[in-house]
Amino acid sequence: MYDSDERRRRIVAQRTGPLLIEGPVEVTLDDGTTVSSDRFCVALCTCRRSRTYPWCDTSHRNPEHPRHPHDGT
Ligand code: FES
Repeated sequence: MYDSDERRRRIVAQRTGPLLIEGPVEVTLDDGTTVSSDRFCVALCTCRRSRTYPWCDTSHRNPEHPRHPHDGT
């Protein structure tokens, strides 16, 4: 339940590519570390190919680019 619509964040999910999230955001990674961004809109990598994971660096556009080493594959 939200106190107001101002607390509600919009996330845009795309079939391929990043999740676009209204910032600022704080992301907790699987190793427990936390990263944050104060940007107005944040692109969160879903393909695990980004060299700047968890942020999208557009590597999802190149399917030949190897996946991020922390994805467990
Ligand atoms: S979604 Fe863009 S690099 Fe992963």
